Amino acid sequence: MNRGDGSVEAPLVDAWQRARGRRMRPLQIPGHKYRFADGADVLGAELLGALVRDDLPLQGGADDNAFTGRYLERAEALWASSVGSDHCRFLVGGSSQGNIASLTAAGGPGLRVAVDRTSHRSALAGLVVSGSIPEWVYPVIHPEFGLPLGVAAESLAGLSGDVVALFVTSPTYVGTMTGVRELADRCHADDRTLIVDQAWGAHLGFMPGWGALEQGADIVTTSVHKALMGYSQTAVVAVRGARIDSVRLDRAVDLTGTTSPSATLLASIDATRAVMEMHGASALAAAIEATSRMRSRLRPVRGLVVVDEAELGQPCDPLKLTLWLPRTGVDGLELAALLWERGHGVEAADADSIVMTLSMLDEPEFCAEMTDLLLVLIERLRGDARVPAPAALWQVVPDVVMSPREAFFAPRRRIRLADAVGEVSAEQFCPYPPGVPLLAPGERITPDVVRDIALAGRIGRVAYCSDPTLESVEIVSG
Ligand SMILES: Cc1ncc(COP(=O)(O)O)c(C=O)c1O
Repeated sequence: MNRGDGSVEAPLVDAWQRARGRRMRPLQIPGHKYRFADGADVLGAELLGALVRDDLPLQGGADDNAFTGRYLERAEALWASSVGSDHCRFLVGGSSQGNIASLTAAGGPGLRVAVDRTSHRSALAGLVVSGSIPEWVYPVIHPEFGLPLGVAAESLAGLSGDVVALFVTSPTYVGTMTGVRELADRCHADDRTLIVDQAWGAHLGFMPGWGALEQGADIVTTSVHKALMGYSQTAVVAVRGARIDSVRLDRAVDLTGTTSPSATLLASIDATRAVMEMHGASALAAAIEATSRMRSRLRPVRGLVVVDEAELGQPCDPLKLTLWLPRTGVDGLELAALLWERGHGVEAADADSIVMTLSMLDEPEFCAEMTDLLLVLIERLRGDARVPAPAALWQVVPDVVMSPREAFFAPRRRIRLADAVGEVSAEQFCPYPPGVPLLAPGERITPDVVRDIALAGRIGRVAYCSDPTLESVEIVSG
């Protein structure tokens, strides 16, 4: 493989390429027997050929059945050393798997864990799996924009003394960053573990001073497929220091993972790390500069707010472009729809805001072109300034009746959502994006939440509930 200067080790990538070069005809999995790899005109080729062409399992593929080559182990050690971690695990179940594994490693049945209520739904899954009891904490919400600014150390003041860990997200979906260093100091002073969901910030681990691990977090999950270049579903969970037992983390990863991981997916994590070691510093600098130029050109637009460090006075993900629109009269959903028609899907949008993710593969010319397009579309959609309608999900303060795990396993019955006020939900309603539950299992259903679910359903997808029409809900039957 041409690695530019050829000097960086990439054991899984090499193993993947060697295995492909062997032209195997296995008497074991995979069932496609690599027949699509060489373009053979075999059963299903017209449908499966391009899709399955690059599939290669780790076991009996890139490595032998006994994992004699230990390529995955070596690749994980290289990632760990690259991001300043003592131990990490590659994941093919996304950051969702990493969050579940983190909570399972740091929490446990009956243990109290403080969790930001605006966390991704996978944190709830981690609470169900681990049996930890959440003590919700809330992020600071911008008074005008209604967007989350991260969890402040002061919000830990009221926590019960027996809370063993804190789970927060940084960067948030909209790009704001939590003061991880301060939280870590506070947690450690109270003998608590700090878990950070850094799903959106895989690049930050390669930027000196920016990564949550470097700032003192004990365990950090990061999606390789979001800000970096790995296959969809790829992520890494990494630990630093002695607060997390690595063996326990390994068991938690194994508990939640497949026994047949794709070497192709895993090798894309290894390749990403190698690319970052070779070219990351300059490529990130260029991408950050291009994104910053986008912001500088958009900032003067009348009424437009560019939600970034300059506006908020706190660190933000330098590769996120979040715009707040009410003063322009532009509807974020309409803007997103016009961008989608042109092939430029955005990360998330609601009436007030639009969130875009840039990466090292967005060249300055593309960024400039997108800025031109945004400038044109904003003027096309411009209207009278309007009163903001902040998304409810960042501001949910639930009435918690039982733990997510108790509610998940409780007897249940289905009733109309409109008739469910006062009942305890057995399930979650989760606008996606961003995947933050409006209603979680174990929470009492209020008139506000019924209204907010209906509203969210009108403007986008509300996921992970049993009735996609949102007409009914499973409640805990008493
Ligand atoms: C903050 C946050 N954490 C975790 C996840 C889950 O990541 P993945 O899709 O890699 O499982 C997401 C997904 O969007 C997210 O926004």
